[in-house]
Amino acid sequence: MGPGKVPEAAARGRPPAGPAPAPGTNTLVTAAPGVVCAGRRAVVTASATTVMGRSSSPSAGAPGAPRSLPSPTPGPICGFPAPTDTVTARQLWGQERAITGNRQTGWTFADAFVAEDEPLLWARDQAHAAGLRPVSPATGAVLRMLSATVDAKAVAEIGTGTGVSGIHLLSGMRPDGVLTTVDTEPECQQFAREAFRAAGFAANRARFIPGRALDVLPRLADGGYDLVFCDGDRTEGLEYLAESLRLLRPGGLVCFEGVLADGRTVESGPQPVEVVRLRELVREVRESPALIPSLVPVGDGLLCGVKR
Ligand SMILES: C[S@@+](CC[C@H](N)C(=O)[O-])C[C@H]1O[C@@H](n2cnc3c(N)ncnc32)[C@H](O)[C@@H]1O
Repeated sequence: MGPGKVPEAAARGRPPAGPAPAPGTNTLVTAAPGVVCAGRRAVVTASATTVMGRSSSPSAGAPGAPRSLPSPTPGPICGFPAPTDTVTARQLWGQERAITGNRQTGWTFADAFVAEDEPLLWARDQAHAAGLRPVSPATGAVLRMLSATVDAKAVAEIGTGTGVSGIHLLSGMRPDGVLTTVDTEPECQQFAREAFRAAGFAANRARFIPGRALDVLPRLADGGYDLVFCDGDRTEGLEYLAESLRLLRPGGLVCFEGVLADGRTVESGPQPVEVVRLRELVREVRESPALIPSLVPVGDGLLCGVKR
């Protein structure tokens, strides 16, 4: 099946026609609902073994009085610090309190800060219709900025999806840069291919490789990549990290999407295997002498590390 011949795409609407539409000049083709490519929706349960946080019982005190944190239990438990370890509670006043209370508004503003054009919105619609969770607009903007920062000529992506993150990465890369993107679902990649074309990227800017990341990554060249973006199977983060360190040139960046798992990564109490694995990944990136780490609280958490 050649590019542009995807029956599902035809049935559910196509991205704004290419080859190179100017952002914002196309008509959005709304996707019909229906799952076309299988989303990564595996529910993994695990034995309840991990307790990370500390008492969350509300502290006593008069309304409006400074809030004190509950006494910490000895920790860290499970080797991962609780969120309170480096955060000192302090009183918030006036405008600062309002700003804190409106943090959600800040995130919404961050998502709207860099407008997404029609091909991106189309790819996002396809992702939602397929039950996938694409990167948030703000995360996409960070990825675009990061790929520009490292002047990326070669980027590897795990988890093509329908191409939302791919468009952002390509937008920040050098004009001759090539995105190598891996996904177990070729149908998803077909949507991404169409979205890239509609966004104005020549076909030779992206190399689509269908397959499991851990089968494909070992075939990619050592030190040949400026950035590796990981958004595939969240239980495989540590393996992706090991492969990324091999693939990256010194000064290259590895980024992991979704490491906060909707807050569960730093919550106390039992968590599914996926979250336990994410905690291990966060810890490993933070402790690795090979990386300069940062956890960017954008979208569902973007964990980044620069290879020394
Ligand atoms: C969250 S979606 C990716 C979204 C995409 N990065 C975006 O922002 O548009 C995760 C994707 O990873 C793919 N996936 C899941 N397990 C994988 C694996 N082991 N190897 C490669 N891809 C995988 C799924 O098929 C799915 O398309």
